[in-house]
Amino acid sequence: PPVDTFDYIVFGGTGDLTMRKLLPALYYRFRDGQVPTDARIIATARSPLSREEYQARAQQALHDHIPASALEADTVSRFINLLYYVSLNGAEAQSNWADLRALLDREPATRIRVYYLATSPALYGQICENLSKQGLVTEQSRVVLEKPIGTDLDSANAINDSVGRHFPENHIFRIDHYLGKETVQNLIALRFANPVFERLWTSDAIDYVQITAAETVGVEGRGAYYDNKSGCLRDMIQNHLLQVLCLVAMDPPVSLDADSVRNEKLKVLHALKPINPSEVAIYTSRGQYMRGHVNGQTVGSYLEDLGEGVTSETETFVALKAEILSWRWGNVPFYLRSGKRMAEKCSEVVIQFKSAPWTIFANKPAANRLIIRIQPDEGVMLSVSTKDPTPTDSLTLREADINIEFEKAFNIRYPDSYERLLLDVVRGDPILFIRRDEVEAAWKWIDPILQGWSKNEAPLEPYPAGTWGPEGARNLLAQSGHLWHEDM
Ligand code: BG6
Repeated sequence: PPVDTFDYIVFGGTGDLTMRKLLPALYYRFRDGQVPTDARIIATARSPLSREEYQARAQQALHDHIPASALEADTVSRFINLLYYVSLNGAEAQSNWADLRALLDREPATRIRVYYLATSPALYGQICENLSKQGLVTEQSRVVLEKPIGTDLDSANAINDSVGRHFPENHIFRIDHYLGKETVQNLIALRFANPVFERLWTSDAIDYVQITAAETVGVEGRGAYYDNKSGCLRDMIQNHLLQVLCLVAMDPPVSLDADSVRNEKLKVLHALKPINPSEVAIYTSRGQYMRGHVNGQTVGSYLEDLGEGVTSETETFVALKAEILSWRWGNVPFYLRSGKRMAEKCSEVVIQFKSAPWTIFANKPAANRLIIRIQPDEGVMLSVSTKDPTPTDSLTLREADINIEFEKAFNIRYPDSYERLLLDVVRGDPILFIRRDEVEAAWKWIDPILQGWSKNEAPLEPYPAGTWGPEGARNLLAQSGHLWHEDM
């Protein structure tokens, strides 16, 4: 069924995120009948464009990012009709607010308004202040903040404070698109609907956990953002990987109420053992890609991608060992890693169980391993020891997999993570969004690592593009006799 009707006002309306993610996601929801036909999508940006010019750009974006088979001409043209454009600098008090107000005033003030800030986070406070001064923040208004919320705890607090002056916390939706991924949400189902897993989900049975988000792309055209106070730790680990870690490690929430879930996630973040600046060489590995080969093509180094004559100490790869100080997880390391220009595009969680304490067989049973594939090839796989069917005089074991491939099992298109999230904002359901205290707890844990790195306590190691990262990442696990998935 369609959600209640709404106005979606996007700041940064001509930007990459809007074109690549937001418009296609809203299109798919419209096509499935979930976006009411009188909803409006109002893009704003500084460029002086007419409504028609913006609509033409948006139509091109749909063609660029959606397969032709999903683009029926009639549906596209009805969707394009929902789009408006206001040329406006949201960070300037003296800008063209009158046009935005006039457009919004055409509908009753009781209509749901979503202000989506797809701009630099440095502008969030300013935009919210202007919205508020212009009287555009109604009872039914929400604001969506894209990551990164700041570059450390202090700057995150400053952003949260300034947005919080104009919107109450329950109207602030901090987006982490990993939580919009079906397979990430499925972690909750897998764990809390299947006692067969949850009964074993402790240090009694689990040896270690690894969470990987590997990409084959480089920094692309985003060098300006990525190299300026970002890098892999801030771009991927502080948010996406820590969120996945929370869902893997949290205790059962009492209900699916947003705060029940977020309280449990927060407990995990609070229980993370601090990594002090002087310990970063023991607990972390950071790397930067060099020239190499990805999918059979020669690609340049990070520095070459940034442009000629540039030097940079920014990391494009991180692996780290996290420990959770709790009854459930004592002595179970959680290895997190992410990187650009790696060997494969693959996001997954690997739960490595302990081996059987004794064997009566000709060979030792391999420890069970549960692999939760977040993307691509979404699915869940459990490795089990079975009797080797070859007739011999002894009972020998062989490993085989129990494997669910979701796309085959359910025969549906996997929605993009933004599709669910954008409409959850309209529904006012914050379960998949990050509460302020989670952002703070995550930065509190990340900050000392950044400090250690800035003192060069852990060297930046080069790795060839198209590999699984620097040698340091392998050593991080080898110390405990553990292996990354590709080495198992
Ligand atoms: C974004 C990061 O949040 O996530 C990007 O800023 C990264 O650098 C992207 O490429 C990865 O998302 P996904 O969904 O492709 O794993």
